[in-house]
Amino acid sequence: MSAGALGRINANKPSSGRRVLPGLAQKDGLIRHPFDLEFGVRTSGLVAGRHLGSGHRHDRHVTAYYAVAPSVFRGMIVRWRQCRPSAPLAPIDAYTFIDLGAGMGRAMLLAADYPFRAVVGVELHPTLARIARGNLAIWRAAKRTRVPMRMHCRDAAEFLLPSGPCVVFLFNPFGALVLRRVLRAWSRTLDERTGQLDILYVNNEQENVLRREPGFERLFHGQVRRSHADAVADRTILKRQPGAQYAAPGWEDCSIYRWVG
Ligand SMILES: C[S@@+](CC[C@H](N)C(=O)[O-])C[C@H]1O[C@@H](n2cnc3c(N)ncnc32)[C@H](O)[C@@H]1O
Repeated sequence: MSAGALGRINANKPSSGRRVLPGLAQKDGLIRHPFDLEFGVRTSGLVAGRHLGSGHRHDRHVTAYYAVAPSVFRGMIVRWRQCRPSAPLAPIDAYTFIDLGAGMGRAMLLAADYPFRAVVGVELHPTLARIARGNLAIWRAAKRTRVPMRMHCRDAAEFLLPSGPCVVFLFNPFGALVLRRVLRAWSRTLDERTGQLDILYVNNEQENVLRREPGFERLFHGQVRRSHADAVADRTILKRQPGAQYAAPGWEDCSIYRWVG
């Protein structure tokens, strides 16, 4: 990650089929984030990219698993809704929210608090996708949302955007090559799209890829602050985690883009 290192972690060899991913066990120093304690879900922990081998050719571009700070997520939604692009934003209930690199689903759970048309997650690693599905089930069982939620265990560059307005969330999931491939895959259908396509990019380490991509307009660029509680929680967690180069400062560098063709 730019302020720390999700993006600097070099994913090397796939892990050897350990049942608990390194970084998700108490012996690895795992401390549960207050979000998990409050809602009885499992989204905490830092897993270095080198432990997230799935056998896919994009494994070595995985940054790491770490869940977004709830306050940063909500701050991004506020920034997005305050943007004043030339064509106004569609109502939030017209948008499908898509988390590319959804991990254990924290951003999906947070998104399900808003009246999106649907919330979709795409995650490459099967163990993380399985944990995310369990979290979604807990959310539904607690009747916290009525928004339809779906988790796909798939490579982000192989995921086809649904029709209608979409907002894509990225919490620095992968390196530049994969981001370019995602954009290239989209470009085949973007001209025919009727709905808006907006991108919320948190910890925007590959910002230059989007900057150089023709057809995308930047609507916001700046820092989104962590709440004091999230800053304390992330600092405490990351101090204990092995390979925790991600420093979790008081803010995240973020940007918002829109496809304008
Ligand atoms: C920093 S975590 C973000 C987790 C989640 N978005 C959140 O905010 O809570 C990045 C996630 O992206 C996933 N990822 C990386 N490359 C991917 C790819 N090519 N396709 C799908 N998921 C990918 C990783 O496995 C990891 O779980």
